[in-house]
Amino acid sequence: MSADVLLGLQWGDEGKGKIVDVLTPKYDIIARFQGGPNAGHTLEFNGIKHVLHTIPSGIFHDSNINVVGNGVVIDPVIFKKEIDALKKLGVDVSKKLLISKRAHLILPTHRLLDAASEAAKGKDKIGSTLKGIGPTYMDKTGRNGLRVGDITTPAFKQKYDTLVAKHKQLLAFHNYEYNLAELEPAFFEGIEVLKELQHIDSEQYINKAMRAGKKVLAEGAQGSLLDIDFGTYPFVTSSNTVTAGACTGLGVAPNKIGNVIGIFKAYCTRVGSGPFPTELNDETGEKIRQVGREFGATTGRPRRCGWLDLPALNYAIMINGATELMMMKADILSEFDTIKICTHYKFKGETIDYLPYDIVDNAIEPVYIEMKGWKKDLTKMDNIDQLPVELKDYVAYIEKQTGVPISIVSIGPDRKQTIFMEHALVK
Ligand code: GDP
Ligand code: IMO
Ligand code: MG
Repeated sequence: MSADVLLGLQWGDEGKGKIVDVLTPKYDIIARFQGGPNAGHTLEFNGIKHVLHTIPSGIFHDSNINVVGNGVVIDPVIFKKEIDALKKLGVDVSKKLLISKRAHLILPTHRLLDAASEAAKGKDKIGSTLKGIGPTYMDKTGRNGLRVGDITTPAFKQKYDTLVAKHKQLLAFHNYEYNLAELEPAFFEGIEVLKELQHIDSEQYINKAMRAGKKVLAEGAQGSLLDIDFGTYPFVTSSNTVTAGACTGLGVAPNKIGNVIGIFKAYCTRVGSGPFPTELNDETGEKIRQVGREFGATTGRPRRCGWLDLPALNYAIMINGATELMMMKADILSEFDTIKICTHYKFKGETIDYLPYDIVDNAIEPVYIEMKGWKKDLTKMDNIDQLPVELKDYVAYIEKQTGVPISIVSIGPDRKQTIFMEHALVK
């Protein structure tokens, strides 16, 4: 079997968690491949609303294995909280959650360094989630990092002390004040919880499972436009959020990747700093934010809102090789008489239909087409025949402009509020 990949095509928060939960019964293994607790993946079902940060979104199903892959960075403090919250809901992770020995650890000093770095950037800050993601990946590529496999070795404490000593020098360079003694007990408590879980060579585990015919779904975090290479650099995260990240973050070879499922909202949002061509700094943007409850699942920050951006979407589809699309939050656009879609940009005096390299320092102006809104409550519909014709037109237009079928239209946060379209590979 090959592994399917599910990831975000915009700036994150597209609704990946909801769809992974919906699709989990069709798979055997759900595996996170990058990012860390900067992610917030929301699941809603049976009146429960739950946000996951590091643990894959298949965890609520009983017959699936969830893997935290080598490409993920783990904060033991947040990880313990996630496990405690799941326990309260009666979810026992001990048999269905496996952690790669190669996954890197976020230390308390990584979080401090994230905050110090953002403070030093002043108005140019990235708008990081302050979870220590950047500094942890820096130590990974700098070959200084600590990994899950280290925590059960006698040298762990000494390796920890060596890295912390280095971090203290960097914090002194930043003149950053902190109280590490206050942060360390929770870290070491989290380490004890991590020790109790099953640590595996996840690349071996996943490849063996695929050879045995098991179906794997790789769950992405963040979004393609936050990718370290292809996103709106430097306003990006520190990992490869695109399909290629699933290869390096799980040890799945490129020729073993199957379907690539691209998740996008029917409009756009972004949290944190950086370019956002279709951003609406007006009443319409505010209306999308309020109706769509666009506030971060991890930090609570208001999300910036704007219309759907086709050049950016097509860019993400190209980089990922998306084979099918799923459109989220169609219900939020029910409020609008007319809906705009950006088809081109005006950039440096020309009209272009692609996302250029240098949008951080140059003005970019969206060119829109306008479509009639559907103005109907979608949230109680349960099949494609009930969808209003204007929504079907909206979907058909996007399919035509992207060349990729839309297999799911999501009409509410709940698992059940999911409409499978004709093209749905998973029904
Ligand atoms: P993720 O990071 O991609 O998993 O997305 P988040 O969980 O951060 O943000 C998506 C938000 O939209 C969550 O609050 C979801 O419960 C909610 N959501 C997902 N799909 C839909 C939908 O179709 N309609 C509505 N109204 N809300 C949705
Ligand atoms: P999910 O998986 C939305 C953004 C931050 C910031 C930038 C860098 O829930 O879609 P970082 O903490 O990674 O150094 O922050 O990336 N960001 C996200 N935005 N959803 C996310 O994850 C995000 N993870 C990071 O807001 O702009
Ligand atoms: Mg999120």
